[in-house]
Amino acid sequence: MAQAFNLKYPSIDDLRKKAKRKMPKFAFEYLDGGCNDDINLKKNTSDIRAVELIPNYLKSKVQVDLKTTLFGETYDAPFGVAPIGLQGLMWPKAPEILAHAAKKQNLPFVLSTVTTSSIEKIGKISEGKAWFQLYHPAKKEVRDDLIERASNAGYPVLVLLSDVPTFGFRPRDIRNGLAMPPKMSIYNFIQILKRPEWALKTLMNGQPQFESLLPYMPKGLNLNQLGKFMDATFDGRLNEEKIKPIRDLWKGKIVLKGVASSADMEKAISLGIDGVIISNHGGRQLDAGQSTLHALQSLNKKYEDKITIMMDSGLRSGPDVARTLASGAKFTFMGRSFMYGVGALGSQGGEHTMELIKTELRQVMDQIGCEKTSDFPNFLVK
Ligand SMILES: Cc1cc2nc3c(=O)[nH]c(=O)nc-3n(C[C@H](O)[C@H](O)[C@H](O)COP(=O)(O)O)c2cc1C
Repeated sequence: MAQAFNLKYPSIDDLRKKAKRKMPKFAFEYLDGGCNDDINLKKNTSDIRAVELIPNYLKSKVQVDLKTTLFGETYDAPFGVAPIGLQGLMWPKAPEILAHAAKKQNLPFVLSTVTTSSIEKIGKISEGKAWFQLYHPAKKEVRDDLIERASNAGYPVLVLLSDVPTFGFRPRDIRNGLAMPPKMSIYNFIQILKRPEWALKTLMNGQPQFESLLPYMPKGLNLNQLGKFMDATFDGRLNEEKIKPIRDLWKGKIVLKGVASSADMEKAISLGIDGVIISNHGGRQLDAGQSTLHALQSLNKKYEDKITIMMDSGLRSGPDVARTLASGAKFTFMGRSFMYGVGALGSQGGEHTMELIKTELRQVMDQIGCEKTSDFPNFLVK
């Protein structure tokens, strides 16, 4: 077992339970929850887990290699860290911890526009390997500046988010004062007092801020003003007219995240987008939506030769990565799994979680006789 692996937490569920005990309730529920009645959240995982693999045991030797090449870069495993907003609220320095871990483990870390570390800081930590996820800014100057900063910091891939045209309806966040505009109440403070390690570390590291956005933000905003600033700064509904100039500006690869329909897939292809992440934001936006696994099954057949297809939402283990690759995805991402790891184990959590998923995935490959990650579709029960 690798050094970074903590034997007390051999599953994402162990990490989730531990994270729940260490994070204030409002922060844990922000991370953990879906939208409305959590139907889409639950379906994401259960539909992945309905996928079955066939083992081929009678072989003289099986040499497993997790390495996977994507956009010309060879990563040590076929998964990466999905972009998550407000990470420092869930655990102090979470984006830095995950970016360091991803660099060491040679996996892609995707930085969210609205997380609590800056484009420049993560660019340095990842030595130009992290990807940048852009929330579409309402103002052209902000858009161009963010793109230029990401390019100067060496990010090879720009991820455009398409699945947040509106704020998701999330009952827990509404109850906890985390809907827009955010509002802290006495209950939030009581929840903080019950989590002294989180409180102390937050005090030591300072209040988390939207660090990449500081250059565009008036100083000293209260929570209400911050909500208004965010509303005015971003324009979540993406379309072809908004994507075209970004395609022209950005010299690296562009990935569209949140694709779940043929109509959007066709547009992505015609716009010269390099890859898509089939995603439903981890079940946080459309409770009546399809699981990403079902969307993958139908879209992959039609478009796999035309564009690089990746998937996220619902994966919680190495076998889940295996099932998703077997269903046609070329690469996978996970959001909550890595954040549970950091919430549970702090600075050790990123590497532990990556080692855990790699170890599980390697075991599946050894078991079924799959030597390369691109061979997984040959082991799918159809
Ligand atoms: C708390 C939270 C915040 C998120 N913030 C962002 C974000 O800022 N940008 C983005 O593109 N996706 C965001 N996502 C979606 C993730 O990138 C990813 O699609 C999702 O977490 C995948 O599902 P999983 O958590 O089941 O792995 C967020 C997800 C969660 C859970």
